[in-house]
Amino acid sequence: MVLIMTTLYLDALQNEESSIAVAASLLKDGHVVALPTETVYGLAAVISNDDAIRSIFVAKGRPADNPLIVHVARASDVATVAVVSPLAQQLMDALFPGPLTLVLPKHPNVSDLVTAGLSTVAVRMPDLLLTRKIIHAAGAPLAAPSANRSGSPSPTTAQHVLEDLDGRIAAVVDAGPCREGLESTVVRVFEDHVVLLRPGACTREAIERVAQVRLTDAHDHSNVQHSPGTRYRHYAPNARVVIAFSKADAQREVGNDPSHMLLLAPADLDIGVPWRPLSGASVYAELRRADSLHVDKIIVHCDEQIQANEALLNRLRKAAEPRTDD
Ligand code: TXA
Ligand code: MG
Repeated sequence: MVLIMTTLYLDALQNEESSIAVAASLLKDGHVVALPTETVYGLAAVISNDDAIRSIFVAKGRPADNPLIVHVARASDVATVAVVSPLAQQLMDALFPGPLTLVLPKHPNVSDLVTAGLSTVAVRMPDLLLTRKIIHAAGAPLAAPSANRSGSPSPTTAQHVLEDLDGRIAAVVDAGPCREGLESTVVRVFEDHVVLLRPGACTREAIERVAQVRLTDAHDHSNVQHSPGTRYRHYAPNARVVIAFSKADAQREVGNDPSHMLLLAPADLDIGVPWRPLSGASVYAELRRADSLHVDKIIVHCDEQIQANEALLNRLRKAAEPRTDD
């Protein structure tokens, strides 16, 4: 059953103090509230309230076996939810706050609902100061997945959140468009090495420089799964997404009838199809916009620069995966 409620709109650009106070008091009362972060908007609840955590899964339509990321206001709070090894501490010292999520052995007091029963917990400290102020005011770490309905592109504005979740959540805090526009990088930290579970806004190079070890990929380790969430179809608009690695590829995709098509590319290719610029910060907004325009096919031109952006290419490939009826 889904409770229909009025979703409160909190404008943190106009009224930061009162937005923080109202959001924190709703969270303390066990409500779920959508919050901006530097990556994407998250759907938050205090980790100590199992009913509130359940409400996140209901509002999103998220499978219960997909664990949530715990967000902390201070790096020193990580030790209250996870076991922090020296290598984890080294990564935190250099890259927190920021768009990096560490998967660490979990502290026994973290609810199985948050971790989907895993022995590990994912933790990050958001770079957006407003997010940290809200976590601090709520008085406890916040579990938060991206604030979209499961399967649709992550929200990078408060309007995107409302498109998906209006009437299903207590409130949304608006702080304008997210700086990164792509989710955090998720890594599993072992004693002496680090495994990439989900590429994201923190680059492979930044992590390798700091950890002084090579970042290995999940498929190189038979005993390490990808993040459970990467199993599900994701980031998908209604329109069919096709990737073109050259102008010739893109032209072939247009064929004889360019109607109801859109070109998403670093620069216009002049192939007779309306063009929108492609970047990590705007890609989810563009996928949503294409749907609102009832575009049938989105041709995405991935030049060398786009291909070098591991996180963006990963999300584009996922958006282009053939649809299964889920
Ligand atoms: O940037 C972000 O990470 C955003 C903002 C709101 O912080 N959050 C986000 O959450 O993208 P979500 O739930 O959409 O994605 C979290 C990913 C999922 O793929 C999930 O399976 C994985 O992290 N994850 C969470 N806990 C994990 C764990 N213990 N082990 C492995 N993967 C985990
Ligand atoms: Mg998500």
